[in-house]
Amino acid sequence: MLKDNYKSGYSLNQIYYKDESIYNLEINNIFHKHWLFAGHTSQLQDIGDYFLYEFADESIIIILNKNNQIKAHINVCRHRGSKICLDKEGNKNLLTCPYHAWSYDLDGALISARDMPSDFKFEHNNLMSVHLELIGGFIFISLSKKPLSLNNFKSDLNETLELFGLDSLKLAMHKSFSIPANWKLAVENYNECYHCVPSHKEFSQIHMMGTDNKIFNIRKDEYLKLNKNNPKYAQFNCFYDNAEPGQEGYQYDRNPLKPGICSGTLNGEAAAPLLGKLTEYDYGASELMIGPLMFFLIYDDHIVGYRFTPLSVDNCVCDIFWMVRDDAVENIDYNINNLTWLWNTTTVADTTIIMNNQKGINSKFYSPGRLSLMENFQKNFLDWYIKTINSNKGDYIE
Ligand code: FES
Ligand SMILES: [Fe+2]
Repeated sequence: MLKDNYKSGYSLNQIYYKDESIYNLEINNIFHKHWLFAGHTSQLQDIGDYFLYEFADESIIIILNKNNQIKAHINVCRHRGSKICLDKEGNKNLLTCPYHAWSYDLDGALISARDMPSDFKFEHNNLMSVHLELIGGFIFISLSKKPLSLNNFKSDLNETLELFGLDSLKLAMHKSFSIPANWKLAVENYNECYHCVPSHKEFSQIHMMGTDNKIFNIRKDEYLKLNKNNPKYAQFNCFYDNAEPGQEGYQYDRNPLKPGICSGTLNGEAAAPLLGKLTEYDYGASELMIGPLMFFLIYDDHIVGYRFTPLSVDNCVCDIFWMVRDDAVENIDYNINNLTWLWNTTTVADTTIIMNNQKGINSKFYSPGRLSLMENFQKNFLDWYIKTINSNKGDYIE
């Protein structure tokens, strides 16, 4: 039995980044309980189009059925458990298992299984489905039997999301970055901007955050004064431990960019047509968090989504989704290189930073270090994380 000596305001002990049984608890208590961002509706154009969302040992088929509804099925055959869809994406008329050819329709109903005993019931052998919610065109799934409610999130942010036209976006680019590190190091790194100035000169030429606190706070105060009249400047901090019991956590606020910077592009000029109902740039960008693991950065003309997915205790993936208005035309209204430059460059740098962080933590000489004031959001994540994995106690933490 190990004693948990987590100290709030410090980084975690080495064991949290290396231990398989802690990793398994995280998968149970976090990834199987919270809403997860699977992808965007624009990835499914035709009936039978599908893609897989995978984390740890799980694989979920996100597919467009014959009624143009999006369904989420567990990618595990009800016969003897083979994976059914092996390709990451594609189009299927039927979901046919490659092992003994049981076939399921797009709704997951078993429609063909050869030579089964007379008492075999097809209707008891449908694919398992999971909860799915659309937030605008964002596809969220929950593997929980009783998912957390998204009602508070929706009612608080409905107007804000409408303003940005969240239901009329398309995915312009999706990139996956493999990171040889525990998934928490990737989330912790996203959650703090203490490293932005030393590590991200590109980010620092666009974003005010982390560069000049005095000007940042003046501009931020101006935004907050606009808060009451304009949903663009709303502020909700219902994240991590601040989430109401039974509700999924969320966070939204707007932060200033450097003066005169319209968007996250090389020269700070527009990246794409203005989103939703916006009529002008305000030289800012919003942070939106849905659940504990999914982050969106909302510029006035595009949205960048970040997803951190564990593959094993020491490997994870950061997926980045760049979204623009659904009527924007590539090479006319936006250029992919211009659109993706900032977060591609920044994430390549982050991948190295996070990998090196894991390497140092693996040393026998690593011990938890004190967090700076600029790492407060990371501290909130770690405080919440420790409570969450202990909420269903394993036998190794007192
Ligand atoms: S495991 Fe799928 S048909 Fe046998
Ligand atoms: Fe970074």
